[in-house]
Amino acid sequence: MSALFSTATLRDLTLRNRTVVAPMCQYSAKDGMANDWHLVHLGRFAIGGFGLVIVEATGVTAEGRISYGDLGLWKDEQIAPLARIVNFLHNHDTAAGIQLAHAGRKASTPVSWHKGVPHTEAEKAAIGYEHWTPVAPSAVAHNPNDPDFQTPTALDAAGIANIIDAFVAAAVRAEKAGFDTVEIHAAHGYLLNQFLSPLANKRTDEYGGSRENRMRLLLEVTKAVRAVWPAEKPLLVRLSVSDWHADGWQTEDSVVLARELKALGVDAIDCSSGGFDGASINPVVNYQVPLAKAVRDGAAIATMAVGLLGDIEGAEAILTNGEADFICLARGALDDPNWAVHANHELGATDYTLWPKQTDRVSSRDRSLGLRAFSKP
Ligand SMILES: Cc1cc2nc3c(=O)[nH]c(=O)nc-3n(C[C@H](O)[C@H](O)[C@H](O)COP(=O)(O)O)c2cc1C
Repeated sequence: MSALFSTATLRDLTLRNRTVVAPMCQYSAKDGMANDWHLVHLGRFAIGGFGLVIVEATGVTAEGRISYGDLGLWKDEQIAPLARIVNFLHNHDTAAGIQLAHAGRKASTPVSWHKGVPHTEAEKAAIGYEHWTPVAPSAVAHNPNDPDFQTPTALDAAGIANIIDAFVAAAVRAEKAGFDTVEIHAAHGYLLNQFLSPLANKRTDEYGGSRENRMRLLLEVTKAVRAVWPAEKPLLVRLSVSDWHADGWQTEDSVVLARELKALGVDAIDCSSGGFDGASINPVVNYQVPLAKAVRDGAAIATMAVGLLGDIEGAEAILTNGEADFICLARGALDDPNWAVHANHELGATDYTLWPKQTDRVSSRDRSLGLRAFSKP
């Protein structure tokens, strides 16, 4: 049995294997509501054998969306279409996670395929276009030279309290939708990451200045979410472990933070990086794996490795070398939604039980063609 296809248990949740689909914004929702696109997009990863599928960054408030096309969980009507997706994943033995998010100053930006292409009024009506002024720790734009990023309004004490309440309310709705885990999004230069990083946090109150103060909001959100999230269900946090910026948040900061998150009942850290202007990133194969290892070793907490991990033997080695506990794929899963079933055979599986019964006739094709379990040495 490979490490990648061994089961993993976090609290009372046992994953059938250690393959995870990372959250991926689809910019395909209207008023934050999941629809058939999200069902098919996410459902195919369950058919493809993944252990856990994490639903995209989902706005805890309407103003916390990256774009008007993001999913949301700021009102009860948004629960049912997500529950339909959760049911599908569960019916195919895949656990369901959802990333709860607030984009902060990176909110209200164009969807990626509409950057620089203005919508007509008719298109705006059809897609539910909305535009609003974002909020952030400080009134500093993400990139003053890019008109897509507005100067945000700095949050006051009441605004910060509302953010915490919104994460809690969204977590309660995620539980009602049946999710097995929630992931708090504190990465990629979005709101909680903006509070952590001195690049975006210029506050002089108890939420800014020292590292302890900059960590305060994420720790308060985590504590409040953990209090309402069922004790038997795991809680995840995604961090930008490093800003890749000399004046920014560093890996050592993440180790300290991860220890505190663990003490609050976080079960695993999803280890990403970057998200601020001026970062110096070298995106090569496995480039974020050392970050997952640093957090895993430094805070004695389970980690998820992510970022250019597509090679199957390489993914297996990350686990067997003790660099991370889970392998998360985003683009690799888009490229091959059956990546997990394929990887299982590559790592030696000779049975077809990871294929859903509707697809296991692949085995008869493989027998006839002498593939996978039927290949001759
Ligand atoms: C289409 C797309 C949408 C993404 N949306 C999110 C998101 O909603 N939340 C998030 O934390 N990361 C998001 N990411 C980043 C991925 O989760 C992942 O960390 C990154 O793509 C690196 O993994 P990969 O090399 O396997 O693609 C997105 C990436 C892609 C390609």
